[in-house]
Amino acid sequence: MKKNNTRIRIAVQKSGRLTEHTMELLTRCGLIYSKGHDQLICYGENMPVDVILVRDDDIPSLVQENLCDLGIVGLNEVEETRLKLVELDTKEIFSQISTLDFGYCRLSFAIPEDQNYTGLSFLSGKRIATSYPQIVGHYLKNQGIKAEVIKFSGAVEIAPGLGKADMICDLVSSGSTLQANELRETDTILESRATLIQTPVLIPTGKQEWLQRLLQRIQGVLQVKESKYIMLHAPRSALPEISKLLPGSESPTIIPLEGRNDKVAVHAVCKEKIFWETLELLKEAGASSMLVLPVEKMLA
Ligand code: PRP
Ligand code: ZN
Repeated sequence: MKKNNTRIRIAVQKSGRLTEHTMELLTRCGLIYSKGHDQLICYGENMPVDVILVRDDDIPSLVQENLCDLGIVGLNEVEETRLKLVELDTKEIFSQISTLDFGYCRLSFAIPEDQNYTGLSFLSGKRIATSYPQIVGHYLKNQGIKAEVIKFSGAVEIAPGLGKADMICDLVSSGSTLQANELRETDTILESRATLIQTPVLIPTGKQEWLQRLLQRIQGVLQVKESKYIMLHAPRSALPEISKLLPGSESPTIIPLEGRNDKVAVHAVCKEKIFWETLELLKEAGASSMLVLPVEKMLA
């Protein structure tokens, strides 16, 4: 797989909690792609953007080594690799461009259900199995706790049952994996969600323009999700109060109503959620004929 100096490469989780949302995000950015025979690359047909499908654990290193320009991966993997690079005294480390609104989970300690949790002191002298030895090691050091960290690449939750560890530190989302293995979640040490990262190496000029466009579109997609377009009629005298009630909107557009001097139409983009309560307050302030519409695309 030779690297091309005009096409952007994004590393994405091959299959897992981030895959579907990530591909949906790229599709909403306008990317149309076809899958290669090996199912490992999605070739962009309408943009010079290719998606490389890999294990999430490999994404930060691929971006760090500039084999991919961008990566979308959980903060858990980002942090684990970042701490490792810091330990190795690496000068240039990939940058975290923005957090995304999916892939929420947490990195937590969990102990066998039948054990009595006594707070952080419980960890002292324990053997802790985890796929995140850097994050766990740092946490223990900061808390001044001495414990043994055992690295597992997968199926961490079976370690206590096998007698290989006393407890674990692993990702938890619904909690069903822990429950199935008779483990109980105790302290959370990291809140994770999908994150967009970029190579530390300067992007060649041939890719700069599309990279900027793609990043701008990603921001646009993120903004649009919460945004709504609101239209309403209001007495002119109520305009100051009504403007204040519109959540996260910049100056609204005021349009005269034919044959009415006392009333106007107000159109605004609200960048925050509009709840029923907001509409009720607007009504109390004098608004009528309210209409809330979804926003499909947005470009600042
Ligand atoms: C994590 C973790 C558990 C599961 C927990 O694995 O290792 O197996 O998710 O989720 P739950 O609380 O909803 O049961 P993940 O799917 O992220 O896969 P990976 O760590 O092997 O990449
Ligand atoms: Zn993984």
